[in-house]
Amino acid sequence: MQQLKSLEELRAWRNQVKGTVALVPTMGNLHEGHLKLVDVAKQHAQHVVVSIFVNPMQFGANEDLDSYPRTFEADCLALAERGTAAVFAPTVADVYPRGLQQQTFIEVPGVSDILCGASRPGHFRGVATIVAKLFNMVQPDCAIFGEKDYQQLQVIRLMTCDLSLPVEVIGMATERAPDGLALSSRNGYLSAQQRQVAPVIYQALQQLSQAVKSGSADSMALSKAKNNIEAAGLKLDYLELRRRSDLANATAQDNELVILVAAFLGKTRLIDNLQFNR
Ligand code: PAF
Repeated sequence: MQQLKSLEELRAWRNQVKGTVALVPTMGNLHEGHLKLVDVAKQHAQHVVVSIFVNPMQFGANEDLDSYPRTFEADCLALAERGTAAVFAPTVADVYPRGLQQQTFIEVPGVSDILCGASRPGHFRGVATIVAKLFNMVQPDCAIFGEKDYQQLQVIRLMTCDLSLPVEVIGMATERAPDGLALSSRNGYLSAQQRQVAPVIYQALQQLSQAVKSGSADSMALSKAKNNIEAAGLKLDYLELRRRSDLANATAQDNELVILVAAFLGKTRLIDNLQFNR
């Protein structure tokens, strides 16, 4: 597996590669969910590039940019075992040579301003900008993203469409621990006791979807699920029932739905979602 630590090295590698290329963008600290993205990528292209870049542009001032876990050596071992062709791990200066303040950015209106976008202003601007830059740098045929970040995936799909980028964006189902907790690098912040409590999020999503499917009023079902999550000691940021296609508020006529949740367990912000049909 090639380790490409600059844009120059990436371009030299990319120029000599023959055949199709899939990109798996990550911020490192890889878990089985990321490695499954690599497996899916291998089904779609002859060569898989995984980018590892903790993108400062998508972190707010009081967020965990500095403490975000960096585990490059272990990540490379796992990726090599999984048949990754190259890891692209650029420096911040390589990605933002004029500095973050001067950087041209990409903003996807509407979908970036709700849910996580409302709680984390500027977050999706940072995501859209880095993903567009990675697409331009790597020039992949396709790119694979996890559906755990459902709103992020919507932002990336719209950005790719709006800018006519020649990249197929592929979403992959959320990978879960046996107790249902969605795999996330941020799970590593949880204490043993918090880790025991965390599956309540997925349990509440399942109960809520069942209640809606069996005809309970959306508002009643939502408030019961909120109570269950808060009774377990989490602080809800949001729990919302939305239309899957555009994340607008779900009406009784909408059939294809997604429940999206963000909640704090101590200082750790966890997100999850569940797609279902009414
Ligand atoms: O989902 C992530 O890990 C990041 O938001 C991404 C897509 C790699 C962009 O930095």
